[in-house]
Amino acid sequence: LLYMHNKYTTMESKIIFALDVYDYNTAVDLARTVGEKVFAIKINWPVILENGIKIVRDLSKYANIICDFKLADIDNTVSMITTKVKEYGGYGIISHSFTGLNSLKAVVKSAGNMKVFSVVSMSQESYLDNITEELIKISMEAGVYGLVAPGNRPYYLKKVKELSEGLKIISPGVGAQGGDIVNAMLLGSDYVIIGRSIYNSPDPLETLEGFSSSINNKLNK
Ligand code: XMP
Repeated sequence: LLYMHNKYTTMESKIIFALDVYDYNTAVDLARTVGEKVFAIKINWPVILENGIKIVRDLSKYANIICDFKLADIDNTVSMITTKVKEYGGYGIISHSFTGLNSLKAVVKSAGNMKVFSVVSMSQESYLDNITEELIKISMEAGVYGLVAPGNRPYYLKKVKELSEGLKIISPGVGAQGGDIVNAMLLGSDYVIIGRSIYNSPDPLETLEGFSSSINNKLNK
């Protein structure tokens, strides 16, 4: 199945690379190496705390950048943060949803064309899963583009898939946290998020291609 999905790749990749490093050159080198082979690169506080928001623009040369800032604050503050990410060329932003409809709506409004993904369950066993159903409702009402649901906890991933109508699901928890990439995709993940298994491997590109071919081998046959 070949089709254009963004300006960076010709073949759709199902992998979002979690680039959790501090060092600027390491970040840019990794982005340059894997950027064309992934759907997006997700960055989190480690990259930002060391380098500032400007790195979003620099990394955007190589891939779509999703800022995993796990927003959880009042509407004014989440709007200010989202606006800044947009200004620097972010492709997407991740927000919590437990802060409720007002905050999440503020993120969606400020995001404009940027994709908003909201967290409705986490890859950590200790997450408070009893409100997941409500978080999905809030997320749908706020108009998010996608949901974050765990790739290593099949019961909750399946539940999120069943309760969310038509929203994209992106799933961390594959690799270092124990989840299996093919299982996650079969249960409903549209994209899997993989960090340490790739950037800590001796050959990140080869490791990434290994993940990609395991998807292609099992799902496209
Ligand atoms: P690893 O190294 O474990 O990286 O492959 C995973 C990345 O995803 C983030 N992460 C999560 N983000 N909900 C989220 O929104 C989750 O349940 C979750 N679990 C992990 C993690 O911070 C890292 O960037």
